[in-house]
Amino acid sequence: MEPSNAQNPAGMPLIGAKAPSFKAVTTQGEINFPDQYAGSWVILFSHPADFTPVCTSEFMTFASMEEDFAKLNCKLVGLSVDGLYSHIAWLRTIKEKITYKGMKNVEVKFPLIEDITMEVAHKYGMMQPGESSTKAVRAVFVIDPKGIIRTILYYPLSLGRNFDEIMRIVIGLQTADAFSIATPADWRPGDDVIVPTAGSCGVAKERMDSKADMTCHDWFFCTKKLDKEKVMAAIQKPKK
Ligand code: BEZ
Repeated sequence: MEPSNAQNPAGMPLIGAKAPSFKAVTTQGEINFPDQYAGSWVILFSHPADFTPVCTSEFMTFASMEEDFAKLNCKLVGLSVDGLYSHIAWLRTIKEKITYKGMKNVEVKFPLIEDITMEVAHKYGMMQPGESSTKAVRAVFVIDPKGIIRTILYYPLSLGRNFDEIMRIVIGLQTADAFSIATPADWRPGDDVIVPTAGSCGVAKERMDSKADMTCHDWFFCTKKLDKEKVMAAIQKPKK
């Protein structure tokens, strides 16, 4: 299916749309998004404000997981509507002063966008006035190597994100792409996966009659084994 550029009436990009493009200043220099990330998965995420506790816990967690995301060919890009010098000061404080849940001396190496004008935040529906008109909500956009938005999460200001779930999303999307399957509730690598639903009466009958390599709970709901090793071998990229 062709990607659409459709946005919903609130101006938010939608799953399946091309990620809105922008150029921005970041803590790692200027970026040209998403063109510069073509060929990689990328997580674009917003946080409400620098020097705040929930955001600090999130940045330390994300930075500690950066290498694990890199193994999945997935890069991280953060954003808030603070300025560059605030970003730099906050990231220096995190590295030099903060110890949290066994994490210390944490260096945030991924780019953090300054967006004082809120231009990027508005493009991605990160400003949600019912929650705050001056701070971005906690948004997460998972974007594939072709620049297509594949998953969107929005969290309120008070709720820190679950980073294991963000990792599970990237692994799940990559597994679905690599094996042409879907993943059931709470799926993790090594769990059974869902075979595409039968598209004809003949295939539906075959599925129910055959004792092949799948388990059919009914004609429309068949699962099969997919080893964790096979999943990880297909999606993890060797370090260059
Ligand atoms: C925080 O990250 O702790 C936070 C930021 C904005 C509003 C509330 C909490």
